[in-house]
Amino acid sequence: MPIEDLVAEMSMRIAAVISDEAESGIVPRFNQAKSIACLDAQFRVHADIPVELKQGIFAEAKTYPAKLRFANATSRDDAEKDVRGLSIRLSGVKGEVLWGEPGFQDFILNSYPALFVATPEDFLSFIRARQANKKLWFFLNPLDPHLKSLGIAFKSRQKHLCPFDVRYWSTTPYRLGENTGQVVKYSVIPSSDYTTIQAVEPGRHQLRAAVKAHLQQAPAQFHFAVQIQTDAYSMPIEDASVIWDEAVSPFRIVATLTLENQDFDNPETMTACERSSFNPWQCLAAHEPLGRMNQVRREVYANAAAVRNKE
Ligand code: HEM
Repeated sequence: MPIEDLVAEMSMRIAAVISDEAESGIVPRFNQAKSIACLDAQFRVHADIPVELKQGIFAEAKTYPAKLRFANATSRDDAEKDVRGLSIRLSGVKGEVLWGEPGFQDFILNSYPALFVATPEDFLSFIRARQANKKLWFFLNPLDPHLKSLGIAFKSRQKHLCPFDVRYWSTTPYRLGENTGQVVKYSVIPSSDYTTIQAVEPGRHQLRAAVKAHLQQAPAQFHFAVQIQTDAYSMPIEDASVIWDEAVSPFRIVATLTLENQDFDNPETMTACERSSFNPWQCLAAHEPLGRMNQVRREVYANAAAVRNKE
């Protein structure tokens, strides 16, 4: 299906679904709707990274201010199993961006290394099923079953005690360097000294409470790493449901994210968090999103954010 047709149908159906789900005038995100926390962080690019990885924002050892949004994919209740999301926006970025506002670089990640669907066509089938309230039908329809998707959806939903102890992956690939031919996936790997071992306030907002408790004890830290595509067949660009084997090509750390204690659980910060939006195309050309799955996301995310934030 042509990209424009995918974008048009996805955007139309997503607008209908999220408008229907609006509560007290707030239109939620289609995916990753529950904001656990939006937090300020520092993104420090390391000095000692291999020369071939010194591309785009990783070209020089530098610290960027960052905004992070932690979210639940489907559940409003933090105690339930779910996929968690992490969205990152760096500011003070020099160079032309491919889309959006100058000066910002976004990274969008999920808590499982593969997406539950392979292609945007499969994602569209899922959106159709969700709109018809027949999500299970997408997986089990005997005429067009998606059993691999069911397996990934099952494995990727986990209980978590704190989003700072979760590992995240981009699942889709990106360029690394404008003319290097290098293709990478991203991962954000927990590296705090402190780990949550028990829910402090078990229940609906336990992840938000865990974030607060962690930051009161100690700063939180993650490593930011890239995995280079070394084999086009086993590490495909056009199938987001395939995990690139870390034994074949390990993730290499290029930066560190640090979060200090801060007041985030207040009405202004939570409202700004709800209204914020991220886009994989808010990036430098050196980090261009690759593949058809990423291609459709540029306009689908922008259209969905416009529906959410229209006055
Ligand atoms: C064709 C593929 C995809 C479609 C149609 C899609 C759709 C969407 C939509 C409509 C939103 C809400 C945007 C907004 O209202 O601002 C969203 C958010 C999100 N998606 Fe996707 N998505 C796709 C692929 C992916 C992939 C591959 C990932 C893997 C990391 C992902 C992770 C996320 C995350 C973490 C958010 C939350 C962003 C935020 O914090 O605002 N999505 N997605």
